[in-house]
Amino acid sequence: MSETARPPYLGFGLGLRPQHYQEILEGEPEVDWFEVISENYMVRGGQPLSILDRIVERYPVVMHGVSLSIASTAPFDEDYLDGLVTLAKRVRPKWISDHLCWTGVHGVNLHDLLPFPYTRDALDHIVSRVHHVQERIGRPLCLENVSTYVQFGHSEMSEWEFIAELARRTGCWLLFDVNNVYVSAYNHGYDALEFLNGIPQDRVIQFHLAGHSDMVNYVVDTHDHPVRDEVWDLYAAALKRFGPVSTMIERDDDIPPLAAMLAELNHARNIAEGILATGKAGSSRSQASTAA
Ligand SMILES: [Fe+2]
Repeated sequence: MSETARPPYLGFGLGLRPQHYQEILEGEPEVDWFEVISENYMVRGGQPLSILDRIVERYPVVMHGVSLSIASTAPFDEDYLDGLVTLAKRVRPKWISDHLCWTGVHGVNLHDLLPFPYTRDALDHIVSRVHHVQERIGRPLCLENVSTYVQFGHSEMSEWEFIAELARRTGCWLLFDVNNVYVSAYNHGYDALEFLNGIPQDRVIQFHLAGHSDMVNYVVDTHDHPVRDEVWDLYAAALKRFGPVSTMIERDDDIPPLAAMLAELNHARNIAEGILATGKAGSSRSQASTAA
């Protein structure tokens, strides 16, 4: 791998969505950075790619994929990896992320982020696949915890133990999705803080925030609501553990005007400033991150 240094702290960003293209290009909204869905721009040309070129001129960008299928037993789609590398050369992302899940097998893409059992065999399998991807993209991959709705009886460790060991063995970075931790903890009846405290402090380089739907007996990661209060509380706890980490809000349905997203992003900024200014973020690596 050619780039292994911790990526820079970017501040407060948004997921780039076509509904906001015009406002972003005509105004200069106060967004520190954008996360782009890699697959939307892995094309040879066209308007979305030319718009992305203009946004890259003004803002730092990170690439976020949904199709890597790192946990699958199917061989990698090497054309897909070529496409990632080509896009990365074009947009020069600060990092490249995808999800710790599988999305298909036997040539079928199920377009969903699916869970797997946390076994030692699965760990060995995914470690070797992360190494392969990191060699291909020339840098550490960043992996995100997904929201889950089932657990496997033959899991041999917790999700956070699995993630910590995966990061230790591969050197990958972690994208800590605060809402996904809340959703999984609620659905499976464990303490979200136990998950939080099991994640290594020095590997988390990005937070995701998003809204979910409360179905009373369970919650669903729908990305069609503002961030809920219980997730803001967990975000505050995450800041205390991890220090300043690049934060962004994901919204994928019922997308409001950009002004509403900016107001929500400012709420995140205010929470972070409150936590970090009072010195409640206790990690030594928070200072290193601020200096980056
Ligand atoms: Fe996420």
